Amino acid sequence: MNFFEIKDRDDGFIAGTYGRFSVAIEKGEGSSIWDVEGKKYIDFTSGIGVNAFGMNDEIWKAAVVEQINKTQHVCNLYYVQPQVELAEAICKISGAKKVFFGNSGAEANECAIKAARKYSALKYGEGSRYEIITMKGSFHGRTMATLTATGQDGFHKHFGPFLEGFVYAEPTYEDISAKINDKTCAVMMELIQGESGVNVVDEQTVKAVEKLCKEKDVLLIVDEVQTGNGRTGEAYAYLGYGISPDLVTTAKGLGGGLPIGACLFFDKTENTLVKGDHGTTFGGNPVACAAALTVVNRLTDDLLATVKEKGAYLKAEIEKMDGVKEVSGRGMMLGVSLDHEKSARQLAEEALKRGLLILTAHEKLRLLPPLTITRAEMDEGLKILKEVLKK
Ligand SMILES: Cc1ncc(COP(=O)(O)O)c(C=O)c1O
Repeated sequence: MNFFEIKDRDDGFIAGTYGRFSVAIEKGEGSSIWDVEGKKYIDFTSGIGVNAFGMNDEIWKAAVVEQINKTQHVCNLYYVQPQVELAEAICKISGAKKVFFGNSGAEANECAIKAARKYSALKYGEGSRYEIITMKGSFHGRTMATLTATGQDGFHKHFGPFLEGFVYAEPTYEDISAKINDKTCAVMMELIQGESGVNVVDEQTVKAVEKLCKEKDVLLIVDEVQTGNGRTGEAYAYLGYGISPDLVTTAKGLGGGLPIGACLFFDKTENTLVKGDHGTTFGGNPVACAAALTVVNRLTDDLLATVKEKGAYLKAEIEKMDGVKEVSGRGMMLGVSLDHEKSARQLAEEALKRGLLILTAHEKLRLLPPLTITRAEMDEGLKILKEVLKK
């Protein structure tokens, strides 16, 4: 099918929930992507932080094929090797004690929300501490609990009533500490807010919030759905902040392109959820776990150092460009504030025409390239971005 045939059928049969760009993607190799008409693009998106090792990654593909040749799915009534190998690898790299596998970021967050509430219910009595403080500008998912947790009004319209017990704070120590009370069971935050524009929460704030949470036995949930799995140049961003959260959630890059999410439990929470408390049919699917293991096993110090280097290079080159006010972010999670007559969406559309896939986040451009992007691919993408931004 050519682009127009695909688009017509998409318009006809797929719920119109996505603001798609005018391109139908067929295949890729590393950080290069081709559309159905054979046009090539440099990929600064990695499928919104998913294809951590790019397209057509041999190691990932081999693990997926090997596992598919054994079994495609095993239900959670039985033990399965790829699940335990992955859980152990995640615990080793993160310091977590236990892992629950779901299928997405939203599901990972649902699990953390339930665990936080149960932790307090067991310790302080049912219904006494249930409030979860989330940040204004946050994004935690589209299910009802995670949508409620998401601190952006734009996502809430038409979908109420929402869950009780969510309170929104500015991501500052002053506001978070003012909102903690004797009903609070958890503070939930992204260390870098991705969807709202790659806004980095500073280290001092995060450390002060962690200290306060520990004093008050309020759990700290860190949402690493986007920042996790090497994206910021750390295996998980919190490791770079030197904090010890009680629950961490991740997804996106974890599976390298297959759907998997994980909720990580640390010392206080490792035994909070027990048999029957939580579950999902597809959670811990062996093919997704085998794929994810190839991602986690490659998050070595050497790989992470290259993520930092490449991120610094991209940031420095973009800062020099016309129409750029500021570049925020860490590692290869970057947001570009603009001083341009064109909107971020218009600029992303122009980039697409010239052969570059790039994301937006509100009024910023956003980059989440594959962690393995080469210098030549970065330069090709930067050249296009420079032309697009030229006033
Ligand atoms: C920080 C964060 N949390 C949660 C989610 C939701 O993840 P998913 O779309 O896999 O449900 C996202 C998705 O963009 C995210 O960026």
